[in-house]
Amino acid sequence: MISKPRLAFSFTSSITQKNDALVVLCAENFDFTGELQSLDQKCGGALKRAAEVTNFDGSVGEVDVIAPTGLDVARVILFAVGKNNQLTGLDFTKLGACLFTILEQRKITSVEILTEGFGDASIFEFAHGLELRSYRFDKYLTQHDDKTLTKLCDVTIVCSNYEGVEAGFALRAAAAAGNRLARDLVHEVPNVLYPASYADVVKNHLEPLGVEVTVLNEQDMAQWGALLGVGQGSIRESRCVVMQWRGATTDQNERPIAFVGKGVTFDTGGISIKPSAGMWEMKMDMGGSAAVVGLMTALAKRQSKVNAVGIVGLVENMPDGGAQRPGDIVKSLSGQTIQVLDTDAEGRLVLADVLTYVQETYKPRAIVDLATLTGAMIVSLGYEKSGLFSNNDALADQIFTAGEVTGEHVWRMPLGKEYNKKLDSAEADMANIGGKRTGGSITAACFLERFINNDTPWAHLDIAGTAWPEGGNVLTGNGATGVGVRLLNQLVADHYES
Ligand code: BES
Ligand code: MN
Ligand code: ZN
Repeated sequence: MISKPRLAFSFTSSITQKNDALVVLCAENFDFTGELQSLDQKCGGALKRAAEVTNFDGSVGEVDVIAPTGLDVARVILFAVGKNNQLTGLDFTKLGACLFTILEQRKITSVEILTEGFGDASIFEFAHGLELRSYRFDKYLTQHDDKTLTKLCDVTIVCSNYEGVEAGFALRAAAAAGNRLARDLVHEVPNVLYPASYADVVKNHLEPLGVEVTVLNEQDMAQWGALLGVGQGSIRESRCVVMQWRGATTDQNERPIAFVGKGVTFDTGGISIKPSAGMWEMKMDMGGSAAVVGLMTALAKRQSKVNAVGIVGLVENMPDGGAQRPGDIVKSLSGQTIQVLDTDAEGRLVLADVLTYVQETYKPRAIVDLATLTGAMIVSLGYEKSGLFSNNDALADQIFTAGEVTGEHVWRMPLGKEYNKKLDSAEADMANIGGKRTGGSITAACFLERFINNDTPWAHLDIAGTAWPEGGNVLTGNGATGVGVRLLNQLVADHYES
């Protein structure tokens, strides 16, 4: 069920000219010196002439030089990156993603990239961008057609400190592997990916990496009335999967940081059924859980020195004769009762029990949950940023910064009594919706907060808009982004490793 990386990277210090194309990264006002100069001399000054004719100075686009005589390589592409000393790591990642699209359009299958004059980190962040943008979900395309398939496969990065760059890239490749897995899971279709099959994928994928995986079935979850209520209208049984990574070295018994994901493998809305137009997109309603699975993959692959627990609630929200009805009251694992006024507000019901369980069982030092929780989130922040809700300013700031670094941007949204009280109900401890549609993402977050112990730092990320943004994403292209994996991998690396 899991795709392989499309690009094979190698790192070396010398040009071979054995590839389809040679790309030269050029900063603004670059000179024909060093390796570029010797290449240019070999082809009788053709590169320099081409640059002059097209006014190429490193600040605009790229120049494509086809078959310069004197060189073995079929073409040289000068790729402009702009002002080198003003570019961040994220800028380089975006530039790498951009180069991927250029190579793909030209159906180039192998490339070497000359990076003379750029810092090691800039180079591996650039390579990371190429890798992120190369993802495709094409497993069901049986007619392998050139137009739909990416041809590029071999990427050779030419740089002086190639060992250092390769080591830096390996950390990014761990995150990219997690990102790819998350995207595979989000794209996977709901007749193939349902709670039990999903649990199997997680087990098969993560156990070989050294992550302990425990799968809870419906008997194990007998007291989880909120989660089970959502799944009861489906012929597919619900599951909860716990993933433990014990990487802390100074204190092996350190309390873990917990990552919780909404895994609704398909959300029809239940009896409060959604309109049929576009309903197929609700296969992505497990994007939060995919981020958690991808994150655990990344942490294991790079042997992160952290104790982390990932936990995902997996259910299918369907409207059969056994489905829960609007008005039903369920008893959550926490003991609090919930009146289900709208069966389409199901994600919070799933998360409520998972949040309770993770706190009771693992006493985490912090919790971050991710969920494609509300359409209202897309109304507030569009497809550009995830909504961040938190009871802890320090944790919120850490996540915000990780977002700026990785390009998985978040924006803080409020919680508060004024919103929280809208969930009060006359017949149960709370209702699962806060009345009118207004402020829907905030009341959803307040609902989750009712299941968090006051003293546990907690953050909730509503990724409804960012998991599968309309119009695509600069780093990942069209389709699922795997949002959350790189963000939380950065958070862990920056603040939670020993
Ligand atoms: N999974 C949806 C939210 C969603 C919408 C995710 C669009 C991604 C794209 C969620 O379960 C849902 O249906 N939420 C309702 C809540 C409402 C009933 C209070 C919504 O947003 O309309
Ligand atoms: Mn729903
Ligand atoms: Zn949903």
